[in-house]
Amino acid sequence: MSKKALITGITGQDGSYLAEFLLNKNYSVFGIVRRSSSFNTGRIDHLIESYPLDKFDFYRGDVNDANSLIEIVKRIEPDEIYHLAAQSHVKVSFEIPVFTFDTVATGTLTLLEAVRSLGLRCKIYFAGSSEMFGSSPPPQNEDTPFKPRSPYAAGKVAAYQLCDIYREAYAIWIACGILFNHESPRRGETFVTRKITRAVARIQLGIQDRLYLGNLNARRDWGYAPDYVEAMWLMLQQHEPDHYVVATGETHSVREFAEAVFRYAGFDLVWEGEGLTEKGVDARTGKPLIEVHSSYFRPLETESLLGNAAKARKRLGWEPKTGFEELVKIMVDADMKRERMLLEGTKVFDEVWRTHI
Ligand code: NAP
Ligand code: GDD
Repeated sequence: MSKKALITGITGQDGSYLAEFLLNKNYSVFGIVRRSSSFNTGRIDHLIESYPLDKFDFYRGDVNDANSLIEIVKRIEPDEIYHLAAQSHVKVSFEIPVFTFDTVATGTLTLLEAVRSLGLRCKIYFAGSSEMFGSSPPPQNEDTPFKPRSPYAAGKVAAYQLCDIYREAYAIWIACGILFNHESPRRGETFVTRKITRAVARIQLGIQDRLYLGNLNARRDWGYAPDYVEAMWLMLQQHEPDHYVVATGETHSVREFAEAVFRYAGFDLVWEGEGLTEKGVDARTGKPLIEVHSSYFRPLETESLLGNAAKARKRLGWEPKTGFEELVKIMVDADMKRERMLLEGTKVFDEVWRTHI
């Protein structure tokens, strides 16, 4: 009998890679998909088309709808639950804080309650975040205090603490991953890496004039999403549940990410001015390629993230396989291909995504 996995947030970046990873390990994979007025299964359509329903299927539900969660968990009786669902955009969490906190914190509690009330013995993965470290200076590891700087991060800290409580109070098996930023061609278009790689492709093809960004000095430890879903799975293969930081151990500023992207795409980018008037200019033509815009700054910022994943390396045998320059190359190549196909009027087939598993 193959193992059964339930993934909340299966339509997101990580959910789609994780589903592929588990299917390759012969799991039966089930997902929870929330209702949307437009199609929201673009990242998993190729799986829906390729697998029989007993191998891959999804159910309509919402992590804030207790009844739907209970019904789905009861029907599937999963061996492993990967809880990834969240309103995951930090800037947006300042704009819709109550909704974000509800999804991130209460949604997790609702799932834990569903498992507890059903008395289900399964392993649970909770998607914690390096954003929980907030203003704690780098490097950050499992012992670094949480000092959250956004409603999203506060929700993740609350959910993380609820996981600890349910583990101790009810002996529910819950592992928490504290994952640093991880990116891919499937990353949502409004996260900074994808915003930059998509923009460079569009600028090169003449579809977009320039790119507007916020804080260029923020630093992030950026890894490659498919490497990170393997760490999630490894956490659930351990005998005892634990917390693990998952990171590359390398940090770059947003400015450095943009430089690497424009360099790889063949531009010679130079910076002029400072603060809100800073510009990234094409050295050959003098044309501005990047400008700073106040609307992309956050009311509070997590300035610097750099993870120490020594525990994951030692206990899980996990290592990131994809370095910074390789990540840039993968993302720019995918966006170039995608934008070119769009421009040519070719239907964008998820081949772009599939080739970057
Ligand atoms: P993502 O692309 O934004 O995906 C989020 C998923 O959650 C989507 O499937 C979304 O559905 C779903 N969702 C949102 N609200 C929901 C609700 N009320 N009920 C059911 N599903 C809901 O995020 P990701 O990058 O894959 O990240 C996965 C998880 O890891 C998230 O919890 C995120 O906070 C966390 N995390 C991510 C990173 C990172 O760098 N990517 C780092 C640390 C932690 P729709 O598709 O319909 O919107
Ligand atoms: N999104 C965005 N857009 N960010 C910008 C921009 C812009 O135009 N300009 C500068 N930034 C800066 C942000 O201020 C932030 O410091 C950094 O780029 C990264 O922003 P995001 O890519 O939006 O990611 P994040 O770090 O806020 O959050 C992501 O990583 C967390 C883990 O640390 C999300 O995936 C979270 O869900 C995840 O928990």
